Amino acid sequence: MSRQNSGSYPLGYSSHEANRLEQQAAFLNELTEEVFRRAGMRPGMRVLDVGCGMGDVSMAAARIVGASGSVVGVDRDPEGLNRARARASAAQLTNVEFRQAELPHIDANEKFDALVGRLVMIYFPDPAAALRELLRHVAPGGVVSFHEPDLSRISTIPPVPSVAENVDRLNLVFERCGFHPRIGVSLGQVFSAAGLAPSLLGATRMEQGGGGFCPTWLVTTIRSLAPAMVKTQVATEAEIDIDTLDQRIRQEADAANALLLGPLMVGAWAVKPA
Ligand SMILES: C[S@@+](CC[C@H](N)C(=O)[O-])C[C@H]1O[C@@H](n2cnc3c(N)ncnc32)[C@H](O)[C@@H]1O
Repeated sequence: MSRQNSGSYPLGYSSHEANRLEQQAAFLNELTEEVFRRAGMRPGMRVLDVGCGMGDVSMAAARIVGASGSVVGVDRDPEGLNRARARASAAQLTNVEFRQAELPHIDANEKFDALVGRLVMIYFPDPAAALRELLRHVAPGGVVSFHEPDLSRISTIPPVPSVAENVDRLNLVFERCGFHPRIGVSLGQVFSAAGLAPSLLGATRMEQGGGGFCPTWLVTTIRSLAPAMVKTQVATEAEIDIDTLDQRIRQEADAANALLLGPLMVGAWAVKPA
């Protein structure tokens, strides 16, 4: 296994984080599937899903390409890959397999009809160079689709101090670990630099008041990031005060009857030139 580059992966590999990814997928999949539809993913295609995590994107693709198609999900995390295999098996998806790789290098000789990834380009030190490397695995005329966030767009109207403070911390910890929290709004440039002509679609979750999923998403994400925040001196454990954060955010958001806007999620897709 090659976790040598994973030391600065800020979300870590806890069971809490594995559960969080599955919960997050339940609200991201709608946009992901719409982007796949617009990108032209269809039955019979062979799909490569990079940074597959718990397998949610791979499984969504597997349902679209059907029994005549196939999906390979790759990730560095062996426990996540095992969990993804178990979930795919429980869902009776026999057209998906999961392999270990340290991206962007993949030991695969076959060419794929589609290259996809969600919430993974944010971690590539040089996203355009990584995309160019990954494109080697795509057949000419194949589709390429990534779905990445701009974490700086998380906001409230009017301002809710506990949200604003934690959004700043969220962005800072990614930056201090050397990653790209605003990659979503750069996806078009990344695709162009890799020789692709992108189409783009963006969406943001919006909720009124503190009773919805936005606070859950923010607090569970901060819980995963807390060790990295302490390590990179973004905040101390006492400043984060994770056990009271959910209550503080919901109370402040309700008191202001604030509009909560989640991360801007950007989907980009293109066809690899023949
Ligand atoms: C935030 S998760 C997203 C998982 C999944 N795509 C989803 O949307 O639910 C990012 C995943 O990318 C993987 N990852 C990040 N950088 C990687 C690298 N250089 N090589 C292999 N996997 C990587 C992590 O291990 C993690 O499972």
